[in-house]
Amino acid sequence: MNISFETLLQKDSFTKEEIIRLLKANGEQEKALFKRSHDVKLKHIGNKVYFRGLVEFSNICKKDCLYCGIRASNKMVNRYDIADDQILKAAKFAYEHKYGSMVLQAGERSNPAFVDRICQLLKDIKKVSNDELGITISIGEQTKETYQKWFDAGAHRYLLRVETSNPKLYNKIHPDNEEHSHATRLACLKSLQDIGYQTGTGVMIGLPFQTYEDLANDILFMKEFDIDMVGMGPFIEHDQTPLYEYKDDLMSLNDRFRLTLRMIAVLRIMMKDINIASATALQAIDPLGREKALKIGANIIMPNITPTQERANYLLYQNKPCIDEGADDCTNCMEARINMADGEIGYGQWGDSLHYKSRL
Ligand code: 5AD
Ligand code: FES
Repeated sequence: MNISFETLLQKDSFTKEEIIRLLKANGEQEKALFKRSHDVKLKHIGNKVYFRGLVEFSNICKKDCLYCGIRASNKMVNRYDIADDQILKAAKFAYEHKYGSMVLQAGERSNPAFVDRICQLLKDIKKVSNDELGITISIGEQTKETYQKWFDAGAHRYLLRVETSNPKLYNKIHPDNEEHSHATRLACLKSLQDIGYQTGTGVMIGLPFQTYEDLANDILFMKEFDIDMVGMGPFIEHDQTPLYEYKDDLMSLNDRFRLTLRMIAVLRIMMKDINIASATALQAIDPLGREKALKIGANIIMPNITPTQERANYLLYQNKPCIDEGADDCTNCMEARINMADGEIGYGQWGDSLHYKSRL
């Protein structure tokens, strides 16, 4: 017999069937789920919200993911690559405004000159920030040697979304070739963890062909992999990509949004001390989307500090927010928003995943 929803919510961990039940909650049950997750968050990690200044420094990408607006085959994209001195300026901005950490994100490239360039950048970022700024990298799949080089040069967190834990679904949303392999993605995550990075992953929610069971498995995967950080967001169709063809089969944007919040809530209850980012894609659907996620269970926000002139060219999905604002505008707006979500900004702190610390 099914236990009551209230009893279920008091558990610390869930089976696949229980997760599916929670992911389908609505009305009063959904409210109770959000309340429980909020309480777990306050009890285990408090109400601090940490900043990660995000620099999307290039949209040049060798990958061709069928969902992504900056995929290599999209000839409509103006490709850019921000000069290193501009990136350093953004890093300095993050440091001076007490962001604590920054994220270097770009499309995937791995030629030797690029790998060396990132090493140099990491060292220079450390220099301009008195060795104080935390640095996360998010530049896709690389060899273990490259990950090690970047770690040695000063990066200590890495984000690589698995996109989905289901290899069959992964194959459906990526081209059928060696460049796009689920097994490689998992091997990369393993290398990152072995090297000693705080390792982050995530999935898209509301993909064509995706089921509730897939999403429940995604949460179990994160738990099983003992991941330190998660960033997951709704899938948002882009009309210059092949997956756009399925737009009429998708759940509504609002349903994808709510489902993402429920994913965050369930994950927070199951992984109490990890860092969970409030994805920018949430704000593309609801102007207060990121604040809602913070209130429910997320504790990380990534203000965009990419030089403004290039922001409009990093459109992974459409209706991306904040592409016209400068970094300063973004900070002010962020502060007001976080206060609204009962959060307190952890200025000048790295805000490491407590889970990572206890895992070591
Ligand atoms: N909708 C939502 N998220 C997307 N991403 C790429 N394309 C889309 C899209 N259309 C996400 C992927 C990738 C991250 C950088 O952006 O999860 O890992
Ligand atoms: Fe793979 Fe952009 S091309 S996520």
